[in-house]
Amino acid sequence: MFVAQSQNTNLFSQNLKMSNVEYENWRKFIYEVSGIYFQDGKKYLLESRLQRRVKFLKFDSFEKYYNFIKFNPRGRSELKYLLDAITINETFFFRNQPQLDALASKILPEMIKEKRKSGQRRIKIWSAASSSGEEAYSVAMMIHELIKPSNRDFTFEIVGTDINSQVIETARRGIYRDYAVRNTPKYFLKKYFKQTPAGYELDPVIKQYATFKLLNLYDNAAMRMMRGFDVIFCANVLIYFDTQSKMRVVNHLYNALNRGGYLFVGYSETLHGISKAFKIVSFSKTVGYKKE
Ligand SMILES: C[S@@+](CC[C@H](N)C(=O)[O-])C[C@H]1O[C@@H](n2cnc3c(N)ncnc32)[C@H](O)[C@@H]1O
Repeated sequence: MFVAQSQNTNLFSQNLKMSNVEYENWRKFIYEVSGIYFQDGKKYLLESRLQRRVKFLKFDSFEKYYNFIKFNPRGRSELKYLLDAITINETFFFRNQPQLDALASKILPEMIKEKRKSGQRRIKIWSAASSSGEEAYSVAMMIHELIKPSNRDFTFEIVGTDINSQVIETARRGIYRDYAVRNTPKYFLKKYFKQTPAGYELDPVIKQYATFKLLNLYDNAAMRMMRGFDVIFCANVLIYFDTQSKMRVVNHLYNALNRGGYLFVGYSETLHGISKAFKIVSFSKTVGYKKE
């Protein structure tokens, strides 16, 4: 009895190893459900990300966890935890100031002028792959500060979506650590955040602009429901996809945009070789992809 127990303890205290065959199965499955592509040589990364969950469920191999999630009907609800474990959610407020400046100084003023002519009074913005909401709320602060005062009759609706359920919860809560606000201009930090024992709490005035929901950019049916956006930010997520999935996702984003709408991607990302459907528009220190 004693021997069996100590063996068991050993099993769960040491790191599990993934065979090459297991890695192939896992990355194929993850790719199919999310578009996220684990490249050759990233087995160690997947191993370390799944480790805690596999042990928590008391499986003694990655293969058993794979079989559970893929073939066992009870494993279906496990997908959410798998996706939470494998996604990288790095983000912070005011991560891409040139894009925010382009939005507030050029794009929105022009759009508002056009919309007024046709009697419209609503602007819809989507932070696709929003992580914990910093991008969506940075947009909200810019709008509240620079656009809303002279356009009180307009409604600004910001939707943040992500595949990771934990970050969506954090976004809804709106309380952040030092790391998240480190790049926030002092003016905004002072005006829109309250320092509490739990962290930097965002002002409800800003929170009310944004809603957050779970959405997989690789889910065709869910993506077809996303329509009528004027601006989409889809930053620092395409890097995790291969060319095929990038094309698929960008095509959905194109369909989700209104004519005249803009798509922004991350600093290190481009639509070169992915889509020719957009017109590239230059702004100060950034480019936007316009749907004409
Ligand atoms: C590095 S963060 C980027 C956050 C933010 N857009 C930014 O630029 O700061 C990437 C986010 O993409 C999300 N993600 C990855 N694959 C996704 C998918 N298939 N559908 C939706 N979100 C996804 C991750 O959960 C993660 O929160």
